[in-house]
Amino acid sequence: MPNPSDVRRVKGTLRHTLDQLLLVDLLRYLVVALRYFWFVKVRRRLATLDAGRGADAAVAGHTVSHNLRGLRDLAVNRSHLLVRPLSVLETLPTDARILSIGPRSEGELLSLAAHGFMWSRIEALDLISYSPKVQLGDMHSTRYPDGSFDAVILGWVLAYSEEPGRAAREIVRITRPGGIIAVGVEYSPLSQEEIVASLGYLPGARKRIASCEEILSFFGDAVDHVYYRHVVASAQRDHQGNFCLLFSVRGPVESTA
Ligand SMILES: C[S@@+](CC[C@H](N)C(=O)[O-])C[C@H]1O[C@@H](n2cnc3c(N)ncnc32)[C@H](O)[C@@H]1O
Repeated sequence: MPNPSDVRRVKGTLRHTLDQLLLVDLLRYLVVALRYFWFVKVRRRLATLDAGRGADAAVAGHTVSHNLRGLRDLAVNRSHLLVRPLSVLETLPTDARILSIGPRSEGELLSLAAHGFMWSRIEALDLISYSPKVQLGDMHSTRYPDGSFDAVILGWVLAYSEEPGRAAREIVRITRPGGIIAVGVEYSPLSQEEIVASLGYLPGARKRIASCEEILSFFGDAVDHVYYRHVVASAQRDHQGNFCLLFSVRGPVESTA
């Protein structure tokens, strides 16, 4: 009889090897696309949480309709900008409990698995969901108990909040002390008026986020150590870029009184 812990170890190695195959973009995309087809076209699971149906008033107008338009970008390759640095932090073990807020598709979640995090420990929350992995919910007010997660990823989500400071407080609440928050935000050289003129509506909050410092200011005193701060400039001049940040969250301050 094989020893149960040996079986577990072999299973773990097998699983890890299969997950590593997801690092191949084409394979990962194929898995995301097949699962999308199954859950959206066959099981008809696509659902949204719109204003007036559970979403908070702080959610910017057009958030859901704009992101439904973008749902076909299943691979969301830009989330690598956060997942890759997250995967090398020594404070996050492979069985870290991770919450992805606003993954939109399963692309970001499979990318986390590809980078070594356990699929069973990856959870997600979004105003849009077709996947059993993604709970419908609003980041301004969640049902997770305090300190639930070792890491929370906010990939290109914060710009859809009219009250990013409030969203940040909620995210700090559900991250354990010492846990990691990863944030990505796009910047554009276009004015809000130019964006409205080209799209016909404003796809995000009225006030735009202008720097990494501004993102950190939403999290205030909760920010402990900033592990990674990077402005990903576009190769083309006058093109959009991204602010990327990874920082740890301060634990509760010990009272000496
Ligand atoms: C631009 S997509 C980001 C997709 C992916 N994370 C990436 O890196 O490209 C923004 C996602 O955030 C979700 N979102 C926006 N506001 C949200 C909120 N208040 N609570 C939860 N999800 C939200 C949208 O529904 C959408 O799926």
